[in-house]
Amino acid sequence: MMMDIENDKYNIIRLEEIDSTNEYAKRIAKTGAKHGTIVLARKQSAGKGRLGRGFESNEDKGIFMSMILRPDIEPIAAARLTLVAAAAVRQAIKQVCSLECDIKWPNDIVADGRKVCGILTEMSTENGNIKYVIVGIGINVTNELFKEELSQVATSILMLTGKIYDREVLMWKIINQFDRYYEAYVRLGNLTAIKDDYDKYLVNIDRQVRVVDCTGGRAVLEGICRGIDEEGNLLIETESEDGSRRVEKIVSGEVSVRGVYGYV
Ligand code: BTN
Repeated sequence: MMMDIENDKYNIIRLEEIDSTNEYAKRIAKTGAKHGTIVLARKQSAGKGRLGRGFESNEDKGIFMSMILRPDIEPIAAARLTLVAAAAVRQAIKQVCSLECDIKWPNDIVADGRKVCGILTEMSTENGNIKYVIVGIGINVTNELFKEELSQVATSILMLTGKIYDREVLMWKIINQFDRYYEAYVRLGNLTAIKDDYDKYLVNIDRQVRVVDCTGGRAVLEGICRGIDEEGNLLIETESEDGSRRVEKIVSGEVSVRGVYGYV
């Protein structure tokens, strides 16, 4: 079945199978696809994660969607749409599945110490202006198990709740929730509208964490996680040898944040 649903703001392009909905979205964004175009696939043959990783995308097991956005904001502000999407997905999962997940900064939704959803935001700029932003969302919905190497780090809504939820209903809840947060973000120019909710569900808030350089695996910094600021940076309170404390800002990028005592 291939069908396009028109909605006044969002136009969904439904695909049976694709390499990656982010890649497809980029291809059509280059040839003029409008703001609000959403690419949805039943399966991806080369689903992409952050930092060159893959994203398991078996047929009808999850929601694999990419939104094309053309916001009139600075490129640095567009990178924060990842956090806007994370807050929207968390809220949508709670409303549709009655499942309370946490957020692993900047862009994973986790429950039971494992990942339920990942978000990959990519953008294209020209002369310092945004041409388009792609916000790709992958949610594990009806997976019953994961292959060995993922089993400690991934879970699904079915594994967490024992129930199969309608992916269509969940997708529309995500779109509506994202739209609400997105409008507030663009209007205010900062993350005030989601900050409290984000911090409330941030894993490791007020706990000791280690910030690790993903490229080299080196520990960059250790301290207590104090939530995000209005720009989406992660605040880490550190203590120097002389006992003085200061708050460092971690800008999202090539770093990963781990609790000192567990997986997430
Ligand atoms: C991550 O966990 O590092 C991010 C995962 C993002 C996966 C989604 S699935 C839909 C969209 N298309 C892709 O190829 N990736 C994103």
